[in-house]
This record gives sequence, structure tokens and C-alpha cells, in this order.
Amino acid sequence: MKEKILVTGGTGFIGSHTVVELQRSGYEVIVIDNLSNSKVEVIDSIAEITGIRPAFEELDCLDEAGLEDVFSKYGNIKAIIHFAASKAVGESVQKPLLYYRNNIVSLINLLELMPKYDVKGIVFSSSCTVYGQPDVLPVTESAPIKKAESPYGNTKQINEEIIQDTVKSGAPIQAILLRYFNPIGAHPTALIGELPNGVPMNLIPYLTQTAIGIREKLSVFGDDYDTPDGSCIRDYINVVDLAKAHVIAIDRMLGNKQKEKVEVFNIGTGKGLSVLELIRAFEKTTGVKLNYQIVGRRTGDIEKVWANPEKANKELGWKAETSIEDTLLSAWKWQQRLREKGIQ
Ligand code: WQD
Repeated sequence: MKEKILVTGGTGFIGSHTVVELQRSGYEVIVIDNLSNSKVEVIDSIAEITGIRPAFEELDCLDEAGLEDVFSKYGNIKAIIHFAASKAVGESVQKPLLYYRNNIVSLINLLELMPKYDVKGIVFSSSCTVYGQPDVLPVTESAPIKKAESPYGNTKQINEEIIQDTVKSGAPIQAILLRYFNPIGAHPTALIGELPNGVPMNLIPYLTQTAIGIREKLSVFGDDYDTPDGSCIRDYINVVDLAKAHVIAIDRMLGNKQKEKVEVFNIGTGKGLSVLELIRAFEKTTGVKLNYQIVGRRTGDIEKVWANPEKANKELGWKAETSIEDTLLSAWKWQQRLREKGIQ
């Protein structure tokens, strides 16, 4: 067995796919999650995919004593991948203090414990949200960080600064910040995927729930933007490709290959797709006609963003490989599996 990796938020959408890839790469994984936005059955699904059941502790990262118990119980945790966070942009506007406490204090708890238990480093789940609406596209890691459009986005910016300042203070830790674009899709086995609580905020789960009949129609939030077809543009990245980037980051960190104590990478495809283009791609790939309606803009949405992923391509040797068609098909297969299992 390779080293032990702690994955916070490991029963979540990106976390669960990353646990699978870590195990496939030979790492021993310990998952902690407070199950506020995921189900413990995900651990069974991970075991079904890889044949290895990860250790699981139901725990909130705000519980510092509980966290310390995990570090001492498992001993010799070499690195952390920190996914656990509240992540609904709209909800963060309604409940800012919940977001600031949960997302920021959780990180501080981890950073304080790391030196005490010889944890070498942390891979942090950041977001292209930190760029706001970039002035230049595609956006590179050296693009200016703009004022966040939501408390959620602000917690990502603040957490990046907390990590930078902690390392700069001389703490014996290092970090890799991965700025995701829009993660979508599901595992090809359809055993794990995106499983939002309640009404989905994000586009793809709402789209597939509309396609299967759970939702009556998909609202397209605006077609009067300054884009070719008027709808917003995003960089949609396959969740398995994204998960693989985390394993490469861990390999790099534990293999002493980092060039700086804190490294930042955009994890995106480098290709922008509009909402209407995505709908057309879904219909073409699945043969399912989608019922949608253009409505007004959603507050806080930025117009267009897509990554310049060259740094990750060159430095990490990572590249998004899965086509948008296969990614949309995986999301659709997952939605059909949920229906078969009577989950949605
Ligand atoms: C994508 C596009 C919407 C729903 C946010 C966070 C990001 C990450 C992903 C957590 C936009 C449009 C959406 C719908 C629509 N967060 N849309 N109808 O806002 O780009 O990114 O979620 O991991 O950090 O910022 O993602 O999927 O909500 O929206 O037209 O019912 O789809 O306007 O243009 P977003 P999204």
C-alpha cells in the first residue's frame, strides 16, 4: 500500500470520484464527511467499483477534537485532499455566516493539525469563481483575482490566502490549489455521480432530471449575454478527469516534485460551451428531446469563462481527455440508474 491520504468531503460528488482514483493508484484512503450533502451509501459504491472499502468517519471538520482523534487513530496520514465545504452559490448569499464559518474554520482546523501529525501537504479544492468575470479569456492562473460575486466564492479566495499565508509563516507544510471549472458527469459504472439534495442548483443535474421527467422544464437563465448564441459560456470538465488531476497532485507533492511550496493550477478543458450548445449536445448524444425555456438572467452569474489549462498540461502532465458527448452520456446513465434504484 502507498501512503495514507485523508479525503474530507469524500462521499461528495468530486470527493467520491477522487477516492476511487486514489485507490486505483494504490493509496490508502481515509474518508471523513458530515453527510450534510451526501449519503453514506457512497462508501459502498466506492468499494463496489474498486474492491477496496475506504475507512470512513462521520465527522464535521468544524469538530477540531474529532479531527484530532482521526489523525491520531490512523497515524501517518501523509497528505489531505480537502473537499468538505458548503458550495451552493445562491444559498451562500442567503446564509453568509454559515458559509464563512463552515468553509473557513474547517480549513483552519486542518492547517493547525497538519504540523502536529507530520502531514506533508494539502490539495485544496478551489474554483474558477475566484476569477469572477475575467478580462482576458481563456483565463490563466496569473489572471487577477476579482472581488467575489458571492460569499461562497469569497470563501474560496479567503481560503487560498489563508493557505498562502500559513506556508509563508514557515509552517512545515506545502499545498497545491486546484481551481476547478465546471465539474460534470458521473463514473462510467454509473455507481457514483452527482446527487444534489433537493432541487438542483447546478445545470447538469437539473438538465438530466428534466430529461427523465422529474422536472417539468429546464429554465435557461438568459440568452441576452454577449456570446454567440446569447447564453452563458462555461468550461465543463468531466469529473473523472478532474479526479485524476488530484491523484497527480498528490503524487507530485509526495514525490517532492513541487517547484514552489504553494502551486496553483487551473483544471479545465480549455474549451467554452454555452448553455444552449450543451443542451443541443445532450439531445444529440442521448436522443432525448429536452423541454426548456429561456427566462431572465440569474443574479450573480458571470457571462463567460473558460480555462487556459496549459500550466496543468505542462507541469502536471494532466489533460482533460473525456469528450463532452461521453461526459453527458455518463450523466444521463447515472440519472437513469438513480431512477432504477428508486432514488430519484
Ligand atoms: C452553469 C450555467 C447558469 C442552472 C457554480 C459555482 C462553481 C461550482 C459549480 C461548486 C450558468 C446556467 C444553471 C439552470 C441554467 N460550484 N444554468 N439553468 O454557476 O457556473 O458554477 O457551480 O462546485 O464554483 O460557481 O454552475 O451549473 O449553476 O451554471 O441556465 O437551471 O448554467 O446560468 O450559465 P456555475 P451552474
